[in-house]
Amino acid sequence: MTRTVYVNGDYLPETEATVSIFDRGFLMADGVYEVTSVLGGKLIDFDGHAVRLQRSLDELEMRSPISKEDLLEVHRELLRVNEIDEGMIYLQITRGAPGDRDFVFPDPETTTPTIVLFTQNKPGLANSPAAQKGMKVISIDDIRWGRRDIKTVQLLYPSMGKMMAKKAGADDAWMIEDGYVTEGTSNNAYIVKGNKIITRALSNDILHGITRAAVLRFAQEAQMEVEERNFTIDEAKKADEAFITSASTFVMPVVEIDGVALGEGVPGRVAPRLREIYLEESLKAAV
Ligand code: PDD
Repeated sequence: MTRTVYVNGDYLPETEATVSIFDRGFLMADGVYEVTSVLGGKLIDFDGHAVRLQRSLDELEMRSPISKEDLLEVHRELLRVNEIDEGMIYLQITRGAPGDRDFVFPDPETTTPTIVLFTQNKPGLANSPAAQKGMKVISIDDIRWGRRDIKTVQLLYPSMGKMMAKKAGADDAWMIEDGYVTEGTSNNAYIVKGNKIITRALSNDILHGITRAAVLRFAQEAQMEVEERNFTIDEAKKADEAFITSASTFVMPVVEIDGVALGEGVPGRVAPRLREIYLEESLKAAV
C-alpha cells in the first residue's frame, strides 16, 4: 500500500509529494516539527502537541498555515487512509519557499509556510521488546544551540549523538552540559532513587516533553515523589533506576550508562510501572 501524505492542503501518494528546493526548512533548518503517537488508531495527547507547536511557531515568529481544528482533521484523515493502528504522525512546518536563498526572513505576506504530515506505521509499538529489556546509553557533550525548548528540525547533532551511541554498542546518548545531564538525543532523561523520580527542571536547555508532563502528573497521582533538579552522570550511574520518555518510546527503562549497569542491569520497579500507567491513562484520553 502506497502511503498517503499531506502537503500544503493536498493528500497525495508519497511518491508524488514534493517541496521546493528553496524551502527554508531544506536550506536553513528554518522549521519546527511535532511527533504524535498513535495507539488503537487514536492520537495520544494531540492537544499538548498542538499547544507546543504553536509555541514553537510563536518563538520563531512564524505563522501557522492551519487551524488547530483542521490540523486534527488532517491527522485523523491520514490515520484513516493509511489504516494506522499503532505508530506515529510526523508534522513539519517551515517558513516556506521564497524562491531564492537569503538569510533575512521572507515577507510572510508573499511567502506562506510549508506544511507536511506523514504517518509511520509501527505495529507493536506499545508492546515493544525494548521496553522489557531496557536500553543502554552513553554520555556525550551537549553542543546544541541555546533554544532547545523550541522543537526545530535542526537535528544534526542529535543524529550524530545516536550514531556515537550506535558505534559504542549502545542505544542512545544522554547529553551533558556544565557537568549536568540535559536530555537524551530525542527524549527526556530521568533517574530514580528509592521512590523519588528526579528529572531536570524545564528551561530553554531542554525540550518541554509532552510525555514528560503526562508522566510526572501520573507519577504524582500514584503517590510517587517527583524532584525537578539537575543531576550529574555520576549520580545517574549510582541511581536505582533510570528511564527516558518521548512520544515514540513512551516510558523506556535505561539499564546501563557508559558501560555501568544500574542495579541488577535489568528494568527495575518504577519505570515499567510508569510505562504501564502512562499507556493506560493516555489511551483513555486519546482522540
Ligand atoms: N523527540 N527531548 C528531545 C530533544 C526530543 O527530541 C524529544 C522528542 C523529547 C520528548 O518530547 P515528547 O515527549 O513531547 O515527545 C525530549 C521526538 C519524539 C522525535 O524527535 O522523534
